[in-house]
Amino acid sequence: MSTQTTLTQFIIEQQRNVPEATGDFTLLLNDIAAACKRIAHTVNRGSITGMLGSADTENVQGETQKQLDIITNDIMVEALEWTGHLAGMVSEEVDDPISIPEQYPKGKYLALFDPLDGSSNIDVNLTVGTIFSILCGQEGTDAKLEDFLQEGVKQVCAGFVLYGPSTMMILTTGQGVNGFTLDQDVGEFVLTHQDMKIPEDTQEFSINMSNQRFWESPVQQYIDECMQGEDGPRNKNFNMRWVASMVAEVYRILTRGGIFMYPLDKRDPNKPGKLRLMYEANPMGFIIEQAGGACSTGRERILEISPNDIHQRVPVILGSKNEVDRVVSYHQ
Ligand code: AHG
Ligand code: MN
Ligand code: MN
Repeated sequence: MSTQTTLTQFIIEQQRNVPEATGDFTLLLNDIAAACKRIAHTVNRGSITGMLGSADTENVQGETQKQLDIITNDIMVEALEWTGHLAGMVSEEVDDPISIPEQYPKGKYLALFDPLDGSSNIDVNLTVGTIFSILCGQEGTDAKLEDFLQEGVKQVCAGFVLYGPSTMMILTTGQGVNGFTLDQDVGEFVLTHQDMKIPEDTQEFSINMSNQRFWESPVQQYIDECMQGEDGPRNKNFNMRWVASMVAEVYRILTRGGIFMYPLDKRDPNKPGKLRLMYEANPMGFIIEQAGGACSTGRERILEISPNDIHQRVPVILGSKNEVDRVVSYHQ
């Protein structure tokens, strides 16, 4: 008999530590896992089924959608709307909050997600993922826009699923971070990475260097010092990686440390950063902090930002604690 712990078993065992738990949350996570298995399968068959490429439509952020952005969004919505665990949803791909159809019961949770992160990578067969954040809403009521505008510290759960060489789910409910790998043979996520911790120091940074001229001076200074390597004030050489999939970048940092930045960008005052607070920065911030790392805009802790819009963008600096603290200190 296999001694591996499945995701379901893991969540049920965690739930036993919470006497007032009803089991609703466990079922919700199972539904998210089921949706992500379906997405993994869909993404994997992309070229065969002709689902790669652009959809020739734009989302609320003015980004051209890929066919798979829309398909994966529909998979998430269809997998979660009927379950009775949610009071509403927010998706990167949908302008307004998504209501639970009238015929289904409404639960107490709110799900916010980026159905396909790194979707520019889909046509070149690189790792993409799904990011999700769970908040509490008001049980039995249709969630309104204001209900979603909660600080990241209020998240009850955050996770992401990587569609890479293996399909993996990384999860936190505020008791550390655990990684599960999809065993394709049995169709179950099994616990493979227990209590993931990010080293406090690193010699690896991640930033899109082509935007350098739009950064503020603290980030300019930090990257300049990294680039000087052993000959500069840091007295050590740095390596650089940029996958352009936040999921892949965050997973690498969880595995071997590093610092990831999509900093404030002076190009467009309406877009202070590229990444979205509610379904990218907050869930990743929660995971990173739970693994011992840090997550900031440079000026404030991401999880303490009081949101004003479900699609708001923020600068993001996250990863190994000592490096993030250094970049923050350059902002002071
Ligand atoms: P999405 O595909 O959901 O729009 O997100 C892409 C994000 C993030 O995953 C990645 O770190 C960043 O955009 C890449 O941006 P550049 O293409 O500007 O490098
Ligand atoms: Mn994204
Ligand atoms: Mn996306």
